[in-house]
Amino acid sequence: MIKQKSIDSVMAAVRIEEVVGDFVSLRKQGQDFVGICPFHDDKNPSMHVSPRLGIYKCFVCDAAGNPVKFLMEHEKMSYPEAIEYLAKKYGIPLEYERTESDEERQQRTLRESLLIVNEFAQKYFMEQLRTTEEGKLMGMAYLKERGFMDATIDKFGLGYCPDGWDNFTKAALEKGYKEEYLIELGLTGKSQSGKLYDIYRGRVIFPIHNDAGKIIGFGGRILKKDGKDPRKYVNSRENTIYHKSDTLYGIYFAKNAIHKQQNVYLVEGYTDVISMHESGVENVVASSGTSLTQGQIRMITKRTQNITVLYDGDMAGIKASMRGIDMLLEQGLKIRVCLLPDGEDPDSFAKKHRDSELQEYLASESKDFLLFKADILSKEAGNDPIKRASMVNEILKSISCVKDNIERAFYVKECAKLFDLSENDLNLNLRRFVWEKTKEQGRVVQHQQQQVQQPSIIDGPVVVEEQGVPHLIDSTKHPELSQQTDLLYEAEKDLILLMLNYGNLVIYEASKNEEENSQGLRVDQYVCNEMQKEDIRFHYPLLEKIFDKYVDWASYIGNQDQIIRNFTLAEDPQISEFVIRNIPVEEPKFSNHWKDKYDIHTHTTRNNIRILQNQVQNIILTLKLRILENDATIIQKILDQEGLAEEDMMMALQQLNTLNQLKKEISKRLNRVVSR
Ligand code: UTP
Ligand code: MN
Repeated sequence: MIKQKSIDSVMAAVRIEEVVGDFVSLRKQGQDFVGICPFHDDKNPSMHVSPRLGIYKCFVCDAAGNPVKFLMEHEKMSYPEAIEYLAKKYGIPLEYERTESDEERQQRTLRESLLIVNEFAQKYFMEQLRTTEEGKLMGMAYLKERGFMDATIDKFGLGYCPDGWDNFTKAALEKGYKEEYLIELGLTGKSQSGKLYDIYRGRVIFPIHNDAGKIIGFGGRILKKDGKDPRKYVNSRENTIYHKSDTLYGIYFAKNAIHKQQNVYLVEGYTDVISMHESGVENVVASSGTSLTQGQIRMITKRTQNITVLYDGDMAGIKASMRGIDMLLEQGLKIRVCLLPDGEDPDSFAKKHRDSELQEYLASESKDFLLFKADILSKEAGNDPIKRASMVNEILKSISCVKDNIERAFYVKECAKLFDLSENDLNLNLRRFVWEKTKEQGRVVQHQQQQVQQPSIIDGPVVVEEQGVPHLIDSTKHPELSQQTDLLYEAEKDLILLMLNYGNLVIYEASKNEEENSQGLRVDQYVCNEMQKEDIRFHYPLLEKIFDKYVDWASYIGNQDQIIRNFTLAEDPQISEFVIRNIPVEEPKFSNHWKDKYDIHTHTTRNNIRILQNQVQNIILTLKLRILENDATIIQKILDQEGLAEEDMMMALQQLNTLNQLKKEISKRLNRVVSR
């Protein structure tokens, strides 16, 4: 492992425009540089490179990052590889952690060696397919018969392994690739007598790429129908570089389209993915015949919240796979399903229809998963009252997995229509499931925090002050109850961005009776004061971390741009990613040097200060309002509990009342600030 100290010196030396400039031709534009973005197909210079912030950002495809990210994405380097590259470029010697480095490096070189062997294998198989008699006659003929086009065969790197005993293995050994690597990768087998043989012999080869485009494994489809080998597909077995549960076939070729379409189609197999590509649908991945694992879900949620599962018409299969889907709902994913006509899979359907027909079918036949499930179960239950009752509960249980209140209400409404029941009745049962979940999750959270005493949700006195906004409940302590709406997130985010952009600007001049050397009040100081005074705390851990780091850095780093650069290079990728994504590349609206540029007493400056003062007030008040709204939903949930003691109920109602009054007051103040 490279020592952090070395990484820091590398980071201090790198200049983003020089790193990107090695791969993309850049043109100066004002303070920044622009160039043609290499991450998507473009003719215009949509990529901005900002030396001030140390980042690049594309305004079309959303690619953004620091120098290290650029190398990782553009050159497919690993993190340490990128650091080593930069160290070399800037002539900075690297020190490695002594203890770990040997093993870690070995692992890394093992990974790299295995990837190189796979790359060789893929090239070999492709060449066999294209240039040998057997390859053309067997492999290529089969692929053509299935209707695959040359360009597609190329794009997915399909190949063929000759049907001999050890053609491939021999070729690989001759080239100097180690036997143990071939075996580890599952390309070569060893018989009892010690003879080596090709595992994929006589099969058409589907290389499996990871999301950086490296070949981590292979699927091989049998051609002969003589029935000696019962396996239709041979797939790589688990090894150092291939983990089935973290692999989605097609992800590398789909990721841009997923990002653009904000949806991904989930299919079963290799040929489904490929055929859909041929029909112009590129946001498609295959789980390879099993239900999604957590790792695979993460690969998707990184890019979109929307999945459309394609089902062939087989009822048993559909019912089996529905069980896994509650888990997806709990992750906040929006799931749709598209049922193909009986007997068709995506591959056969795509082949039989024109591109536009497939695309229209997907668009018009995709249905919301929960409504689809309700429909199927309802048909199945028929008029049997017992079956119907348990069906309704089954659906409600699924609905209770949906995180969003409004969405849940929507489902209740739809199901009420579908089952011919009253919304009230459904809500009653639903609330029970939601509450059970909430309690369960509450227990987990409390357990994690190792709280000895279980705090009552409604405790502490109701405080109402003239000026400040009191907390009736500390919602940061109850993440399980907190609604954590997007609005609250946006408000906390606005506050962070305010600090990053304008934290060092003085908005209130020092008053006469303060000390001589007083500099006046900066935005960040003012915000910190307010937060303390009003006891405002963050609900989102990432934003809280960023805030704490900001306060830490601002206390000894004088230059605001330097603080931002520190963030864009932060060790914690979540932090750097957030800042890079959200910081505007353009110069801030309010100059960091307005005191130098203008005399502090000029009209322009005073006007600027007034605008900024308003903006700061606005952001803080909005945040307070969002927190109160969040608190109100929590109390509402408490009120929704069954069997709440009357005393607690009175208390909660009273608190709700106070909250609403405070909300009104803040809204009024907010209006004044805005209209001023
Ligand atoms: P399918 O049997 O539907 O295969 O299995 P397919 O991809 O449509 O292939 P064709 O059209 O018959 O040629 C779906 C997926 O399940 C996995 C593969 O990933 C396959 O693509 N599978 C299937 C295996 O891993 N092994 C098998 O023996 C069968
Ligand atoms: Mn098929």
